[in-house]
Amino acid sequence: MKILVIGSGGREHALVWKLKQSKSSPKIYCAPGNGGIAQDAHIVSIKPDDVKGLCEFALKEKIDLTLVGPELSLAHGIVDKFMQKGLNIFGPTKELALLESSKAHAKEAMQRFAIPTAGFEIFETADKALDFINRPRLFPAPYPIVIKADGLAAGKGVVICVNRRQAQCAIEDMMVRKIFGKAGEKIIIEECLEGEEASVLVASDGMNVVGLASSQDHKRVFDADKGPNTGGMGAYSPAPVVTAAMHERIMAEIITPLIDGLAKENKFYKGILYAGVMVTKEGPKVLEFNVRFGDPETQAILPRLKTDLVDLCFASIEDSIDELRLEWKEKSSVCVVVASGGYPGEYKSGFEISGIDNCIREGSPDTYIFHAGTKTSPVTSHQSPVKYITDGGRVLNVVSLGDTIRQAIDNVYKAVGKIKFEGMHYRKDIGHRALERHLENTYKGARAD
Ligand code: AMP
Ligand code: GLY
Repeated sequence: MKILVIGSGGREHALVWKLKQSKSSPKIYCAPGNGGIAQDAHIVSIKPDDVKGLCEFALKEKIDLTLVGPELSLAHGIVDKFMQKGLNIFGPTKELALLESSKAHAKEAMQRFAIPTAGFEIFETADKALDFINRPRLFPAPYPIVIKADGLAAGKGVVICVNRRQAQCAIEDMMVRKIFGKAGEKIIIEECLEGEEASVLVASDGMNVVGLASSQDHKRVFDADKGPNTGGMGAYSPAPVVTAAMHERIMAEIITPLIDGLAKENKFYKGILYAGVMVTKEGPKVLEFNVRFGDPETQAILPRLKTDLVDLCFASIEDSIDELRLEWKEKSSVCVVVASGGYPGEYKSGFEISGIDNCIREGSPDTYIFHAGTKTSPVTSHQSPVKYITDGGRVLNVVSLGDTIRQAIDNVYKAVGKIKFEGMHYRKDIGHRALERHLENTYKGARAD
């Protein structure tokens, strides 16, 4: 079997790593991959937005299955194109990928299917949006409010505004100065939700879904959730905020109404559906839908998955998700992202990375390194061991499992401590919310005794 993975980050390295363990012993290709992926897959130098080039490659190589990492490929209609050519691909069509590539479209779908989400208004002109924020009562609480660019803005298109001045700036940035280009032609102004966030991913075949393990991302760059947003500085799984009862509610109130509602409209959602959920006092509410695997959630989730990932993909493609039971390691998993100095702002690349081998050799048995922004050093690539140099903002994902979240955190930070490169930085508190809940429950337990 030949499998193609599209993308170049830690998520794609985790997918390649998991696929390598498949009982179908696949030959794996990755386009365009990175330094670490190059050790585990055949690198194909085609960019994720070059749908035509990827399709030609898949036809020429007779690829049996394609998995897509980045939303851009899905938004460009890679699934439609591959399906037209009779190629197996795991993911939603361009029309259904609008759930991520247009926030206005996602909000309208939520409204249609009565899915709980923040109150909102959609605007197509700056004047109407500015007029709206000048009203005395916007949503139940006046401020903060959240302003979102409609289209894909590389995770930067959401601004939480604490007063009218900030809201005015955000509207002008998006709609007048057009800092996100076409993505800001429409904006959404919405109510700010309070609670704890969680990522709930399911795999769907268009009619049925199977839930993946819950997880939680850490979007801010500094400890204690301070500083600007990033692509994600770490994740852990499971997320204790998603109790079994909460998971049931999320399935019953969010996932099922969406998949069923779309199916009734003759739109069959296939692939991974990722609900970014805020667990509020009133219950779970949707912050966003993504139409793909999360990054870095996938790096934390896949090391816990016992089931063959190839089986999961074909169950979606062949409409048999209802027959699939996913099996999980009863362990906690923590992923720490190691980033370049300056990230998410400007940073330099090209620094040699040391300690990767020690990290695996001397780390706890369930420790994994998934590369993101790395390449192999051209000077040493013919030698052994391979030398890696930094080549991006987020450089490495270090993941460890543990019997408890505490143990997983201890294991992962022991491993991260062995990695060195100039300017590196990482959060020291990944998993803090799970730990706080764990301690809270321990104390509750002690009191009950
Ligand atoms: P999104 O890309 O829509 O998920 O937004 C990115 C981040 O902004 C989310 O992970 C939340 O932390 C925050 N966010 C988005 N919408 C809201 C909201 N309505 N209330 C509070 N926080 C929000
Ligand atoms: N972890 C956030 C995302 O994948 O969009």
